Amino acid sequence: MEKKYIVALDQGTTSCRCIVFDRDQNIVSLAQKEFPQIYPKAGWVEHNPTDIYVTQYSVMIEALTKMNIHAGDIAGIGITNQRETTIVWDKETGLPVCNAIVWQCRRTADICEEIKWHGPLVEHIRQSTGLLVDAYFSATKLKWILDHVEGARQKAEAGRLLFGTVDTWLIWKLTGGKAHVTDYTNASRTMLFNIHTLSWDQEILNALEIPACMLPKVCGSAEIYGYTPIAGAMVPICGIAGDQQAALFGQACFERGDIKNTYGTGNFILMNTGDTPVESRHGLLTTIAYGLGGKVCYALEGSVFIGGAVLQWLRDEMGFYKEAPDADYFGGKVKDTQGVYFVPAFTGLGAPHWDMYARGCLFGLTRGTSRNHIIRAALESIAFQSKDVIDAMIADTGLLFDEIKVDGGASVSDIIMQFQADITGKRLRRPIVRETTALGAAYLAGLASGFWRDLDDLRRHWSLDKIYEPEMDAGQREKRLHGWKNAVACAKIWRE
Ligand code: G3P
Repeated sequence: MEKKYIVALDQGTTSCRCIVFDRDQNIVSLAQKEFPQIYPKAGWVEHNPTDIYVTQYSVMIEALTKMNIHAGDIAGIGITNQRETTIVWDKETGLPVCNAIVWQCRRTADICEEIKWHGPLVEHIRQSTGLLVDAYFSATKLKWILDHVEGARQKAEAGRLLFGTVDTWLIWKLTGGKAHVTDYTNASRTMLFNIHTLSWDQEILNALEIPACMLPKVCGSAEIYGYTPIAGAMVPICGIAGDQQAALFGQACFERGDIKNTYGTGNFILMNTGDTPVESRHGLLTTIAYGLGGKVCYALEGSVFIGGAVLQWLRDEMGFYKEAPDADYFGGKVKDTQGVYFVPAFTGLGAPHWDMYARGCLFGLTRGTSRNHIIRAALESIAFQSKDVIDAMIADTGLLFDEIKVDGGASVSDIIMQFQADITGKRLRRPIVRETTALGAAYLAGLASGFWRDLDDLRRHWSLDKIYEPEMDAGQREKRLHGWKNAVACAKIWRE
């Protein structure tokens, strides 16, 4: 009997979602639930791995039952996840040895400083993994667990503990401990994986004293990893990608030079660079976009830490409006910012600046500045930050492109989208299905299970909602960029 559905499990930083797609890529059912965030100390962020699993499982069952979807009609499950977050568990008891250390957690900044102090490893890490040494990635989080959880190192060396990013943990649980796997996209965010030889890097493992036996097997992004029992049927789990790579795939960015921008809490911009891993000289990361048919495709990535979060801050801390989408309404009441610039460097600046000491600043205030000018400057700051990353991508690759695909919560804002088109001089294309992360995971599982035939089949279904064309003249663009650059420079040197 022909299967009717693909299930995507989207395990994000603050919530778990399950989306069921049909063959025409329509969303047939969706369930979502938040789970607790744990902040044990300033700068530390944890999740309980059991919360993650139970919440993810419950939304899957909810999505299936509410639309009366039979497990026997599911062709496969694709998993996409918050990346870098680190989990270690005991393979005999199945219990985590401590909470997951979340990608945002800065507790291992000191370990990173120490690595940087010792020099040569930094360059080796950059060449091998495509990453900069930073607490963002899994490697130092895993080392921290081995160094601080009592008995963890001995048990790990004895082969009793397993490490995984969230995809690995979910698949291990869903398959009853049968599969200990990850895919190339997630492995490429650990700072332990050689993205050229496609193997774990023994030199980094030695330096951080991480036993190789606890690492998962690294697989392609579309293949059968194992089966999970649902209501008597064994359903294949057959797609994995880290969430930003999944969004790139869900946007059908299959060609070299294709680029997408996801506007969430932060902005994540990824460019497909084909079979060439482009080494960045402008503050970007080299990563794996996906692994298909025994080959990998690479991407350049720039992450902006505070994107849509600046609008939440204006809502929650400044009380400027009640709902984040109101920002567009108030920002639209003024025709420009009247020379106000807002650099939302609340947690320092990410790509391409990588300045952890920069802080948020507002510039150009006058007696005539109103709340609406500040809101408009905050909306524009989201686009200005992406523009910096896009310039770095052009400088690194020499690739000129005309358009950018956009998705994520803030991509519904007409002000941000029009300004993004204006300030980059690029056309923006927004799809009808804005759940591109889940769609990407569904695509991968759909390819592995034969639900969809090939990339052309996927491309054909990608459907456009709206295009934003650049309208700003070159002189105005230069003027605004000049102002933004000055503002960023000041945010970098400001000290209390
Ligand atoms: O690298 C972190 C990223 O994967 C988190 O994404 O959407 O869960 O905040 P998100």
